[in-house]
Amino acid sequence: MAANKVVYVGMSADLVHPGHLNILKKAAEYGEVVVGLLTDAAIASYKRIPFMEFEQRRLVIENIKNVSRVVPQTTLDYVPNLRALKPDYVVHGDDWREGVQRETRQRVIDALAEWGGELVEVPYTAGISSTQLNRALREIGTTPDLRLKSLRRMLQVKPLLRFLDIHNALSGLIIENTKVSTPEGLREFDGMWGSSLTDSTAKGKPDIEAVDVSARMNTLNEVLEVTTKPIIYDADTGGQPEHFEFTVRTLERLGVSAAIIEDKTGLKKNSLFGNEVAQAQDTIENFSAKIRIGKKAQATDDFMIIARIESLILDRGMDDAISRAMAYLDAGADGIMIHSRKEDPAEIFEFCDQYRTFENRKPLVVVPSSYNRVFEAELQERGVNIVIYANQLLRSAYPAMLETAKSILLHQRSKECDEKMLPIKEILELIPGTK
Ligand code: SPV
Ligand code: MG
Repeated sequence: MAANKVVYVGMSADLVHPGHLNILKKAAEYGEVVVGLLTDAAIASYKRIPFMEFEQRRLVIENIKNVSRVVPQTTLDYVPNLRALKPDYVVHGDDWREGVQRETRQRVIDALAEWGGELVEVPYTAGISSTQLNRALREIGTTPDLRLKSLRRMLQVKPLLRFLDIHNALSGLIIENTKVSTPEGLREFDGMWGSSLTDSTAKGKPDIEAVDVSARMNTLNEVLEVTTKPIIYDADTGGQPEHFEFTVRTLERLGVSAAIIEDKTGLKKNSLFGNEVAQAQDTIENFSAKIRIGKKAQATDDFMIIARIESLILDRGMDDAISRAMAYLDAGADGIMIHSRKEDPAEIFEFCDQYRTFENRKPLVVVPSSYNRVFEAELQERGVNIVIYANQLLRSAYPAMLETAKSILLHQRSKECDEKMLPIKEILELIPGTK
């Protein structure tokens, strides 16, 4: 080992494999190895949260031969740590020359030049990679316990989570697997929203709690079987408090991460109707009692009960919404969802600004269905933690199916609509194991 030389190796080290050991071995040939271990937040800034938490990963890496020291690297960007440590070398696999990490690599080279440091690139170890291991693990699936906890873990490390509606297993698979490539890395959905509207609509029933809890759980089970991402369940009003207890326990047993209950009473109608239909808001006292009963029913500390406030939907005003938020948090709610049916996000922004000043604030959830021109970044800036796209998958599927049905009727054959459909070959390959 070269005397007194410092070698910096940045890594996530979630699923440690021979490729990592090879890099550490090479690094040790140049000097004393300091591992910059990416924190959960740093990893979550460009890909899915790691399987193991930071402290677990630190324990593994600290005990590997050739590693002298582990320091946290809190950003994907190496530069802050490099400037602090001024290492003589940075050692990295040569697989970051292309793709998302290209820019990170260039910044490393530029920073090292400030004090005459050098980048050493180790040929990529063929046959094994974290990407492959990740894929294999996802195929094995998850456990209810891990999935349940994953929402709280994500909330700790990601500034904003995005959820999309499920109404059957196929919609779950779309949310599980769809990714787009961006300059900041792969972008994907963090989890699934068990919407009462889309689940009811897919079953041809109105969104009035007519689809009973057992039927709703069937949809969840279908989705749970083929996905690994967390689920937030739309529990409508929660029903009778005595019934809500059972719903909470069932959801926990399934591995659902959270239930959102709305502060309405009587026959529930969809919020987007507002006051066009008769809808009654529950009293603060009754609804707070329901939250308390739900919290007491939980078997784990990880499950979340989020209170949904309907004051803006029912034109009861901002003060009512704010005082309810305070009361529901006091009753033990793990988060607040504020809903609005205005096209202008102004009232949501106003709520966010006031909510941010709460001392005991918990995660804030919004559903931008009506104020759909708002960007995620604008909501994040105002302290929103979870954005739910509550119905877009079902709403996009329906017109496509309707058009196909009409085209077949009109042309008396299916050739005319064939182009717009998923090719037969692809539908056979869509679900692994079909072939
Ligand atoms: C749902 O998706 O069922 C919701 C959101 O509760 S909304 O339809 O906007 O009320
Ligand atoms: Mg609903």
